[in-house]
Amino acid sequence: MSAKAELHALIDRFAEGSVLVVGDLALDEFLTGVTERISREGPVLILRHEHTRQVPGGAANAAYNFAKLGAKVTMVGVVGEDLQAQALRNILAEAGIDVSGLVVDPTRPTITKTRIAAHSRQSVTQQVVRIDRKSDEPLSLDLQAQLSEQIATYAAANAALVCSDYLEGTFTDKTIAATLNHSRTIVDTHAGLERYQGAYLFTPNLPEAELAAGFAIRSDDDLNRAGAELLHRTGAKYILITRGEEGMSLFGVDGTRRDIPAFNRTQVFDVTGAGDTVVAALTLALIAGGDAYQAAILGNLAASIVVRQFGTATTDVATLHSHLEELEWTFL
Ligand SMILES: Nc1ncnc2c1ncn2[C@@H]1O[C@H](COP(=O)(O)OP(=O)(O)OP(=O)(O)O)[C@@H](O)[C@H]1O
Ligand SMILES: [Mg+2]
Repeated sequence: MSAKAELHALIDRFAEGSVLVVGDLALDEFLTGVTERISREGPVLILRHEHTRQVPGGAANAAYNFAKLGAKVTMVGVVGEDLQAQALRNILAEAGIDVSGLVVDPTRPTITKTRIAAHSRQSVTQQVVRIDRKSDEPLSLDLQAQLSEQIATYAAANAALVCSDYLEGTFTDKTIAATLNHSRTIVDTHAGLERYQGAYLFTPNLPEAELAAGFAIRSDDDLNRAGAELLHRTGAKYILITRGEEGMSLFGVDGTRRDIPAFNRTQVFDVTGAGDTVVAALTLALIAGGDAYQAAILGNLAASIVVRQFGTATTDVATLHSHLEELEWTFL
């Protein structure tokens, strides 16, 4: 089979994949209104509400990406006891994601970022203010125990376990220990990679890799040193450093390095959430039996598709197939 045919075959098996996504889930809200007048209550704009859009954020976006690629997904994380939690449950459940493992903490709000944007009759829409709901309190021991229990319950039944750590408190020593009880734990975290000792693969972006390595990555040699340093510090089999417009570099514990260029450099409109898409396609390719290099290529391909769309985006198996077919890359 040609290299490309092998990748097509991996994509064909995405729907057979099952994943447990653990992490800091959030709700992203977008409220839009048209400016009417200035208030008499204070020097503020009054907007006439037009529409509200709610989309999964944080770890929920990672889970959503998996679901759109056809996989069976279970989500474990913490939500509050509020309307935002209900909205998140509905959106995830509608995408076919199992939300029965969500743990409820009545003392904290569901993490929510609400953007309020306005436009006058003809003007472009622009953001006016953003309201964040979240708690800075660490998770109670009881909640950590509940989370760990849910992780243990679902881990065995899934072919991979993904940690999506936005540093919002889901991951404590206790819950991390529960996630590491799996042979295929993939970690996407903003910081603290070494806390996930022995996980299979990490997907830091460049700033995250610099932070974790403790030095700036300015040259190719720096990148090599960072890859080696992160492998050493985490005990991982692979470190995949995603490098934005430079694509990605995969470092293996066997001393190998493979570079993959960004497959789409001309039609890039919004890179938000591209990291979550990489993790989803990469993980499903691994579960399907691909090696880490093939998985990284498919993660990179999926990212090259979603950066074309505004907002956090997802892609599907049919789109992956067609973009793979058109991909002209000399290594394939
Ligand atoms: N400017 C860009 N041009 C082309 N491709 C890009 C660009 N930015 C990102 N990508 C693609 O998306 C992948 C992941 O991007 P990046 O390294 O920015 O991840 P990230 O910072 O974790 O993203 P996020 O946290 O917003 O989800 C890259 O490896 C590349 O394939
Ligand atoms: Mg990221």
